Amino acid sequence: MNSTVNANSSPKPVRILIVGTGGMAHQHVWAYQKISAVRLVAAVDINPERLRTFAQKYEIPQTFGSVEDAVAWGQFDAASVVTPDGLHYAATLPLLAAGKHVLCEKPLASSARDAVEMAEAAARAGVVNMMNLTYRNEPTMQKAAQLVREGALGEVRFFEASFLQSWLHQPAWGDWKTESAWTWKLSTAHGSRGALGDAGVHILDYATFIVGQEVVEVAGRLQTYNKAPGGRVGEFTLDANDSAIMSVACTGGSIGTIIATRAATGHLNDMVIKVYGETGALDLRYRLGESELHACLGAANVLHGKWEPVDCPAVTYPSNYERFVAAIRGETSPEPDFARGAALQKVLDRAEGR
Ligand SMILES: NC(=O)c1ccc[n+]([C@@H]2O[C@H](COP(=O)([O-])OP(=O)(O)OC[C@H]3O[C@@H](n4cnc5c(N)ncnc54)[C@H](O)[C@@H]3O)[C@@H](O)[C@H]2O)c1
Repeated sequence: MNSTVNANSSPKPVRILIVGTGGMAHQHVWAYQKISAVRLVAAVDINPERLRTFAQKYEIPQTFGSVEDAVAWGQFDAASVVTPDGLHYAATLPLLAAGKHVLCEKPLASSARDAVEMAEAAARAGVVNMMNLTYRNEPTMQKAAQLVREGALGEVRFFEASFLQSWLHQPAWGDWKTESAWTWKLSTAHGSRGALGDAGVHILDYATFIVGQEVVEVAGRLQTYNKAPGGRVGEFTLDANDSAIMSVACTGGSIGTIIATRAATGHLNDMVIKVYGETGALDLRYRLGESELHACLGAANVLHGKWEPVDCPAVTYPSNYERFVAAIRGETSPEPDFARGAALQKVLDRAEGR
């Protein structure tokens, strides 16, 4: 990946449409607001009140009740798709057909079939297409992947990767019993693939990105807890998985476990990724927005099990939003793209036995 974004004195203006104005859409706006010559020109939501409040807050001049209406208007270059997971496919295809660049939230779609169709449509349209695998730009992720690529660990043999959340057990971000923004994430009928599709797609991407190998075999174990009387809250049937374990074998001969759970009490949004090679090992921890990387490298350290912190310069890696805009301006390659999203989705489908 090209890890630098050119500083251009008069960068090409980019007009952005935001599709879906719920919780995560605010992160998109805050990120775009920091990039020069990016203008937020329109927003779409099926909830008129949320849409109005959002547009007023960020001074977005145009609002629409559907993607189709926004496409008919057409005065934008690119879109962020931030709808619930099950609607990414339906929201993205009209944008691609209209030749718009798209940054889509994760997971790319609710099934590998839809994700592949999106990737093919994006390739046909010849537009910039990216998926928002948020923590890709963590300096520790990039440094860990670089160390593996450079051969610092020798051949990678084994890895363990966990994404630990606890919002089933505490309301720090919101209460799933009363707030639909959380309840839909527990319901397959509302497009959720549970912890597997939500945090699972992140940790599957990060683990395989760092290890530099692709999954060739996967066995999944999923658990949906008994959380509410009759397994329901209002219109929501709470049938999506809450915890997921993937046991995987990879192209380079390594095997590993990949875990995603919403029931890890004590962990709000934490990740642990451990990678073991013939000649060295890495231990990456992300906790409460801070991440650190430790390594056991070199024969003497390996012999004595001695770990040392790895310096990961914070300024090196631009965010997904910066890379999306830079790719539109022709300054960098769009990564992770929809093809990557489709490949990840195939693994998730197989972990569910689909
Ligand atoms: N990358 C990350 O780290 C990260 C973090 C949180 C959420 N997400 C993803 O972001 C997406 C949105 O999640 P959220 O937490 O903001 O959900 P949310 O429920 O808070 O917001 C979704 C919004 O989309 C709107 N919407 C529903 N159908 C629509 C349609 N057809 N057209 C336009 N708008 C529509 C809803 O009214 C709502 O305002 C999900 O795909 C989620 O997985 C990603």
